[in-house]
Amino acid sequence: MGPFAVTQLLTLISLTVALDNGLLKIPPMGWMAWERFRCDVDCQDDPENCISEGLFRDMADRLAEDGWRELGYEYIIIDDCWMSRLRDEQEKLQPEPSRFPGGIAKLARYIHDRGLKLGIYADMGTHTCMGFPGTTLDKIEIDAQTFASWGVDYLKFDGCYSNPVEQMQGYPLMSKALNATGRPIVYSCSWPAYLGGLPPNVNYSLLGDICHLWRNYYDIQDSWDSVQGIIEWFSDNQDDLQPAAGPGRWNDPDMLIIGNFGLSVDQARSQMALWAIMAAPLIMSNDLRNLANSARAILQNKMIIAINQDPMGIQGRRLLQEKSQIEVYWRPLSHSASALVFLSRRTDMPYLYHTSLAKLNYDAGSYEAYEVFTSSTVTGLNATTVFTVSINPSGVVMWYLIPQQKPRQSDTLYDQHKKASQFMFHKAKPGHSTL
Ligand code: GLA
Repeated sequence: MGPFAVTQLLTLISLTVALDNGLLKIPPMGWMAWERFRCDVDCQDDPENCISEGLFRDMADRLAEDGWRELGYEYIIIDDCWMSRLRDEQEKLQPEPSRFPGGIAKLARYIHDRGLKLGIYADMGTHTCMGFPGTTLDKIEIDAQTFASWGVDYLKFDGCYSNPVEQMQGYPLMSKALNATGRPIVYSCSWPAYLGGLPPNVNYSLLGDICHLWRNYYDIQDSWDSVQGIIEWFSDNQDDLQPAAGPGRWNDPDMLIIGNFGLSVDQARSQMALWAIMAAPLIMSNDLRNLANSARAILQNKMIIAINQDPMGIQGRRLLQEKSQIEVYWRPLSHSASALVFLSRRTDMPYLYHTSLAKLNYDAGSYEAYEVFTSSTVTGLNATTVFTVSINPSGVVMWYLIPQQKPRQSDTLYDQHKKASQFMFHKAKPGHSTL
């Protein structure tokens, strides 16, 4: 190897080491203010819901006390509208003092004391989307340092009020600046969403190198239309998007809106199911202080969380779009398991969909299926067995599937799968990777 090659190799190694801080081997889980609480800064008239330290403390209490943290929901993420309109005398960002009188470092301590992590929002550009101070190229270093000094664990870096040339410089620079702080900080980039989300404008391999996750598409709103539009766009473009995802690098179709006003129970299940198939971040934006039990059950479903958090980190795909408006989604999982989702885009009545695993590209053999939302089991399935699922309008049926070995080989893989699934059902512990 000549000196040039050696230098190249060293550069490559140092780049990889420098940028890979080992975070987010599985998709992040947590809570973010934006979709539900927006830019409500009116603490006079709406003290319970305005963007203030009280709101984030309330949500931290809920995550810690209502069983969320043990399931993996750990990030509390502040979105836009936390800042003062002015930087301080040293050019540092500062929180609006009337709404965050204790400052961010104190809030971070409160959150860390509860075993949780704090995320914050900034914008690569002259202003944030709501008009608060932006992070222009010359401010990147100081802002990264400020966040690290406050104990921030996650940065959502938005892209309003900048152009593609500035973004091309700014997003990699912030990645370096965060690494240079020495604090492990998750880096969420909104960059691709500002470039239309697709190659050739978006370079997904570069993004994977510098960001842990990225927003690809439009903001989610509190409606089934919005959720459907997102699912459709991600699936229509899965050939570009799906290979970009993996441990430490995730597509982000935006927040979970389950528990708000716009989704029926079936639609809420559909969002959760598709986000699990897509290996998407499970970041809720809802009011954890007032949550219907049906929403809680969906968001706290251990099996679906385990599917989302599968350690192989392979994003799933849409397999089929039927004329009947039934769609089938699939994701491969550890231990040769897999997840299937049957989604109905119909608007009439429950639809009886007949198919077989062989039709869905499964290998010959027998399988056991667990229905994720009803916890029932389907046994004795052969790849060629024709089965029927009844899918509600805008709802899903979701299966976790395990191949069964023939009895002669039963002390090998089959037992492992059995054990894995029992672990998941009966002993699921706080945390991840129980599949
Ligand atoms: C953009 C982002 C949203 C939210 C708002 C805040 O629209 O995509 O997720 O952060 O800005 O202003």
